[in-house]
Amino acid sequence: MKHFLLLVCLQFLFLPLCAKDRTIRPGELWLDNKGVHINAHGGGIMYHKGTYYWYGEHKAENTSSALVGVTCYRSKDLVNWTNCGIALAVEDQVGSDIEKGCTLERPKVIYCPRTGKFVMWFHLELKGRGYAAARAAVAVADKPTGPFKFLRSGRVNPYCYPADWNEADIAQCKALQSSQFTEWWTGPWREAVSQGLFVKRDLDGGQMARDMTLYIDDDGRAYHIFSSEENLTLHLAELSDDFTYHTGRYWRIAPGGQNEAPALFKRNGRYWLITSGCTGWAPNEARMFWADSLTGPWTQVPSPCRGENAKLTFNGQSTYILPVAGKPDAFIFMADIWRPKHPIDARYVWLPITFENDTPVVAWRDEWSPATFWD
Ligand code: DGJ
Repeated sequence: MKHFLLLVCLQFLFLPLCAKDRTIRPGELWLDNKGVHINAHGGGIMYHKGTYYWYGEHKAENTSSALVGVTCYRSKDLVNWTNCGIALAVEDQVGSDIEKGCTLERPKVIYCPRTGKFVMWFHLELKGRGYAAARAAVAVADKPTGPFKFLRSGRVNPYCYPADWNEADIAQCKALQSSQFTEWWTGPWREAVSQGLFVKRDLDGGQMARDMTLYIDDDGRAYHIFSSEENLTLHLAELSDDFTYHTGRYWRIAPGGQNEAPALFKRNGRYWLITSGCTGWAPNEARMFWADSLTGPWTQVPSPCRGENAKLTFNGQSTYILPVAGKPDAFIFMADIWRPKHPIDARYVWLPITFENDTPVVAWRDEWSPATFWD
């Protein structure tokens, strides 16, 4: 009897430590296996051999600059996450592209079957230079949890015009004179932007690359989708066979539309892209586009968000859309509620995507369980 009572007491003592969570509560603190709020912001998920890996920006208490690097967590049920430590560490070396104090945002990882390597791309801003560098950066690893080895960073696709431009489009772009457009946001300036005013400006040095995601198409080709041209136009850029270079082939999406935070998925043969507008850390209304080919044309439709705070994307900003492995109709919309004054306290909004007449809908829920995908 004494032993039985002891066993019961022990069970109650350890229950909180062993108990598995069943639900996701968008906007609430989300504790990892050590009971610490998950620190993986602007993140993305890679599914590999039965495990989901969540990569994201490690955020500090008082600064949005990168003091640590990219974190990695793993999970099998999408609710309970084990901290796997730092996948890519910032460097102490002065002058390093990823020097501690740089801005390192929106890391995403994909697995390259041809090389057997895990490839991470992220948006990089050099230390002390605000958001001027607008670079894409790449790192590789032999294991999903890293350590990732930083390869290089830079602007993207120098000396290349969009892959779908014909000679007339190129001639029109070449004829644009930036000196004629000193004032922004006028009708003629907008027209020039959509004709490639900034493509021309950045032709030699390479195109700007900020908010980003990665996408692997059905044929195994990988693409890097990022805010370019002063955040005015998204570029969808093809990656090389080893996923670590751009091939020079790229397509523009919504020229002049000012989209950030791209997140892409495919269902029933149709591609869907969810983005945000450009309002810094403040939330705005999500946008949505569809296309029957990755390279476009893309058509804009209303925001998929519904319910409380839907007009402000539930106070969040998209970062990734997670296809649930083995469930062709199951997708999770992932967004960040930024807290620029206390970055480490930024929150996550994960919500299931449902479909109405085959159009994605993201409805607010206080609490939900991914187990419903498998039950
Ligand atoms: C919005 C972007 O989506 C974020 O990743 C970050 O770059 C902030 N802007 C900075 O203001």
